[in-house]
Amino acid sequence: MSLQQEIKKRRTFGIIAHPDAGKTTLTEKLLLFGGAIQTAGAVKSNKIDMATRSDWMEIEKQRGISVATSVMGFDYRDLKINILDTPGHQDFAEDTYRTLTAVDSVIMVIDCVKGVEAQTEKLMEVCRMRNTPVLCFINKLDREGRDPFELLDEIEEKLGINVRPLSWPIGMGKNLRGVYNLYEKNLNLFEANKTKRTNDVIQIKDIHDPSLEKHIAASAARQLREDIDLIEGVYDPFDPTDYLEGNLAPVFFGSAVNNFGIRELLDCFVQIAPPPRPRETDLREIVPNEEKFTGFIFKIHANMDPRHRNRIAFVRICSGTFFRGNNYYHVRHDKSFRFSNATAFMAQQKETVDEAYPGDIVGLYDTGNLKIGDTLTEGEKGLYKGIPSFSPELFREVINLDAMKSKQMEKGLVQLMDEGVAQLFTYEMGSRKVVGTVGALQFEVLQYRLQHEYGAKVQFAPVNIHKACWISSQSQEKLDAFVKDKFRHIARDKDGKLVFMSETRAWLQMVQDNFTDITFHFISEF
Ligand code: G4P
Repeated sequence: MSLQQEIKKRRTFGIIAHPDAGKTTLTEKLLLFGGAIQTAGAVKSNKIDMATRSDWMEIEKQRGISVATSVMGFDYRDLKINILDTPGHQDFAEDTYRTLTAVDSVIMVIDCVKGVEAQTEKLMEVCRMRNTPVLCFINKLDREGRDPFELLDEIEEKLGINVRPLSWPIGMGKNLRGVYNLYEKNLNLFEANKTKRTNDVIQIKDIHDPSLEKHIAASAARQLREDIDLIEGVYDPFDPTDYLEGNLAPVFFGSAVNNFGIRELLDCFVQIAPPPRPRETDLREIVPNEEKFTGFIFKIHANMDPRHRNRIAFVRICSGTFFRGNNYYHVRHDKSFRFSNATAFMAQQKETVDEAYPGDIVGLYDTGNLKIGDTLTEGEKGLYKGIPSFSPELFREVINLDAMKSKQMEKGLVQLMDEGVAQLFTYEMGSRKVVGTVGALQFEVLQYRLQHEYGAKVQFAPVNIHKACWISSQSQEKLDAFVKDKFRHIARDKDGKLVFMSETRAWLQMVQDNFTDITFHFISEF
């Protein structure tokens, strides 16, 4: 098969949701419908197996969350589908943001009872930054949820994206009768645990056809007709281009736990979701079908066994063919490395891979050379853009409790930051080290891992910091003057970029007003 054909076959996407909306369940059901797994429960039980493997993972088990962002590949029809799972817990949101840089589209799960929740809004912002196409799945129809029109309005309003329903619920909760598929014009009647994959839908091309009453009660049929007439009147016909440009989210309704409405979602997804797209480096745009391999690292997964400190770096392939055993050029180190140990991810198994194509994710074993955001090529120097760090929300100072182990601590901190567990800011004055995270859980993870993997004992002390902002200016002179003026509050991030550590929101505002030549950034890439 030609490279072009391999690319056309691939659909790489992520499922995002506010915790508990049903992301894990939907992932599992997609694998089930795709034929990649045979029994329900497999995805969840995998999480628990992982948790029992080490004490560190035990922390997560206790909290009932999964830290692991895994990749699940499967074949469906003629396509190779890669699902990039994202951690459910919001303390690991940064991990999710980075995973979103490696996908070509996104399915967003929304709980029909709760509607758009805080984490969903944040994730949507990340999608918007890159114009990632988004498809919505409104889940838990078997519960008494909110009015579907109200939910659609809320998505438009809170997520700032136009919507277009492509399926429509007939009743909800106890009265759920089914969904009407507006895209394929057929009716799928509700049964709990509907596992049949095809041929279980009733073709009703015209919703006004009296045969509808053969399948649902007259009152439900009347309501459905009214709703569909309203939809056709209010929303423009679905235009896939709007979706591909990230301006319009098609919406499906269903109940993941009941296997209901999943087929509609999957079948539409495979028709409209984009194959791998061109991506920007700091030198030029690279299109997937260029012969030479390029890719970037968006995630590093630590080995859970502390005796072997090797890690798996997840590489998103952007162009050309990746061959196991080849030497590839590491742009940041300006050096070539040989990757003889490459892993592909199929369903829930890992297997050695000899070749991989744009859209695929391969895992490379690494002993500490790779970090998040690194680009690998066949010699070209361009670095892939778009893997930013976000200004963290919580800050604590690292206190070394064992002076004899400061080397180990330094090394551990650097490596854990390379993995993206948290962000390290080192003050210009006195080299104080402050760690910034999105959630409090990371401090626990850091403390635990520093001790168990590096033998370094640390404590995290509270510090009075509200925000870390990356700073820049058109004028080097003005920037130097600012740094001098605010020297006590200036730090460097892991890449040596200047950061202003503001103590309060009000003070940050004041400083922004007083230093208009300085730009304050809340994302590391600008
Ligand atoms: P997440 O990954 O987004 O955090 O959510 P997850 O799939 O773990 O689902 C969260 C809870 O919602 C689970 O219940 C799950 O069974 C339930 N759920 C998922 N889809 C549906 C649905 O369509 N209808 C209803 N009623 N519930 C749904 P749990 O009690 O936390 O776990 P479990 O013991 O049921 O597995």
